[in-house]
Order: sequence, then C-alpha cells, then structure tokens
Amino acid sequence: MLSGKTILIGITGGIAAYKICELIRKFKKSGANVKVVCTPNALNFVTKLTLQNLSQNEVYVEEFDVKSWKPEHISLADEADIMLIAPATANTISKIAQGIADNLLTSIACAFRKKMIIAPAMNCNMWNNAAVQKNLSILKSRGIEILEPDSGFLACGYLGKGRLCRLDKIFDAVVEALKCSDKLKGKKVVITSGGTIEDIDPVRYISNYSSGKMGFALANNAADMGAEVVLITTKDFEAPYKIVKVKSALDMQSALDNEFDTSDIIIMAAAVADYRVKEMCAQKIKKGESDVLTLELVKNPDILAGLCERRAHNSLDKPLIVGFCAETENLLQNAKEKINKKGCDFLVANDISRSDIGFSSDDNEVTILDYSGAIIKLDKAPKRVIARKILELISK
Ligand code: CTP
Repeated sequence: MLSGKTILIGITGGIAAYKICELIRKFKKSGANVKVVCTPNALNFVTKLTLQNLSQNEVYVEEFDVKSWKPEHISLADEADIMLIAPATANTISKIAQGIADNLLTSIACAFRKKMIIAPAMNCNMWNNAAVQKNLSILKSRGIEILEPDSGFLACGYLGKGRLCRLDKIFDAVVEALKCSDKLKGKKVVITSGGTIEDIDPVRYISNYSSGKMGFALANNAADMGAEVVLITTKDFEAPYKIVKVKSALDMQSALDNEFDTSDIIIMAAAVADYRVKEMCAQKIKKGESDVLTLELVKNPDILAGLCERRAHNSLDKPLIVGFCAETENLLQNAKEKINKKGCDFLVANDISRSDIGFSSDDNEVTILDYSGAIIKLDKAPKRVIARKILELISK
C-alpha cells in the first residue's frame, strides 16, 4: 500500500514515544520506507536500537553528526514524502510554530515543505495552556494537520485530554495523505480567496463578509495533492506555497493575468465586488451639510467570465476553470444560469443565507455543477473536507 513512499517520523520526549514502535512496524509492513528522527529527550523513553531495528534505517538525533556534504536536516526533509511528528510535546509544537530550529527534529520541520501531520500528547493542563493552543492554531493556519489527543487517564495521573490519539487514526491519516499526494503532481493550481476591497477614500472601503477560508482550504489541499499552488488572496494567510496578496478586483484580475498562461487549473473562490467607486477620493470625504452622500459606482470586470473568454478566444484546452457562486435564494436555478453565462467547467454553489455554512464559517455544504449539466451535492462538512472532495472531482 505504501511502497515507494518515505515517511519521516519525528519522535519527541513524551511517554507515548513507546507506542510509535508499533506504528513504525505497521508502516513497514505496508511497504513504506521509514526514517526516524528523535529529539534527545525522546531517547529517555525509547531506545535508538529499537527504533533502528524496527525502521531498518539509521535513527537520526544529533544535528552536527555530519556524514555527507548535505546537512541531514535538508536531505531528510527533501527525501521524505510526508513528515509525522508523534508524540509531539508542547515544547516541540511551540518551537515549530515559532520557527525555532534548535535540534535536528525542529530544524527538519523548519525546512520541510510537504505534508506534515502532528499528533500531540501531553498533560491536560499543558494541552489547555493558552500559549500551546495559540501555537497549535498557528500550525493549523499553515496547513499542518493536527490529530487532536484523546481524553482518558494520562500517564501523569490526571484524567483529561492529552493522550496520544489512537494509532490507527494516525496510520489512516498518513495513508490518506500519501494516497492523494500525487493526484495533482505536475499541475499548477491557481486559487483566489477572500472578498475584494474597493477603496472609497483613504479611510473607507466597500467589501463583503468573505473570510477567504474556503479558498485557503482548497489551496492547502491542492498542495497536499502535489500541485504547485498559487493563492491570490485579499486575506493574511501563511503557507509554504506562493501567496499573492491583493486588494481590489482590478488587482486580483492583474495577478490572475500574470498566472494564466502557466496554470492548469484556476479556481475562483474569491468574492469579487461587482462594483467599485468610480473615482476614489484622494482625501478623506468630509461630512458636509447634506444628510445624503451619493457614491457613483462602476462595474468591475467579471474576472471569471474574462478568463473563460480568454481561453475560448485562444482555443486553449487549459486551464480548467472553476467558479464559485454565492446565493441567498434560488441556489440551483441561479447556479445553472451562472455556469452557462460565465462558461466555466465547474461551478461550486454556496447558500450564503445559512449562518452555519458559507461565509466565515468553518463548515460548508455545496452543490457542484459541471459543464455537462451534472449536479453533485456535498453534505455539510468542514471546509477542509469539502475542499478535498472538490479537488478530487475536478482532478478526474
Ligand atoms: N466573479 C468574478 N468577477 C466578478 C464577480 C464575480 O470573477 N466581478 C466570480 C466569483 O469569484 C465567483 C463567480 O464569479 O467565482 C460568481 O460570483 P457571484 O458573486 O456568485 O456572482 P456574480 O457574477 O457576481 O453575480 P451576482 O452578484 O449578480 O449574483
């Protein structure tokens, strides 16, 4: 199942380190090449010899135990298809979140550009510590998958959340990630996200409630599936792929123009403002005597329709173009009209009238229309899951 794949397992100094021996066996049985890197503290809980025998590879601990011209933290990061850190202590989690590279494991994590999964294990009070939670959310925001610990009796005598999650859950997460890791290999995927910002004057603007989360989830998943990703967004995201920060619809259009020729897939998840102020005031608009202020708006270009037109005009067979559509009523009817009008290959329709899905929510429920008229409904799920399903569908 995993032959040809290299899994780099990082073990840190927690009692659950002994459980990883079993996991290494499972990965080996599935055909994976397993490489193990330990923090010096991990060796208080499990021996190097055990890990070496089980992984059938050298076990790496010391950063400056140099054997070749290429430093180990770079070559191990380059060779691996995935990095799993389990168990991950509060200390290692926080160091990785802050970019601290003070041992071999944290240096590799700092240099690692592919899919990373972290399975924390610690005392429940440490797990609930605000700094640890903040650092975990930083890691999540960078697309790192966190397998939350289970609740139960902890080795330290406490009852609470902090036990390393079940080994089969870790195993399945790694297998799932590797299964998808080359579905978009060799493809360049350009994704837009967030609501555009149209300036009125130096202190005011027109925008919308789009959080950019759906586009970010798509970008993270596309990267996990092996694509070269470019995220063009109005929001502040951090990720190991190219991010182009834009503001207005016109900025977004020119960023897309720059990427169009080299892209294989373009996904327009951004909420582009349909209108902008005809002339932005150079100075702050003063209140004045009148009770009414009239702003003259002009139409923004329909970027999605323009991209589809450019592809058709040049008789190109790429990029594949995916639109999103945000509706508060008549979802399917409006979506059908939009896919025809804009000429894209897929349209992902969102009901933004519901507060439990869509804009700024972590969940979504979408209906996907394709150029042939087929309709696929995806049930409510976290945006990460919806994003994966959308990409799997279009990658076919
Ligand atoms: N879109 C675009 N340029 C615009 C407006 C929208 O590229 N000026 C894209 C969006 O990124 C999305 C799709 O078109 O992928 C549909 O956006 P939506 O806001 O649902 O539709 P509109 O075309 O703006 O139509 P309306 O606002 O009338 O529903």
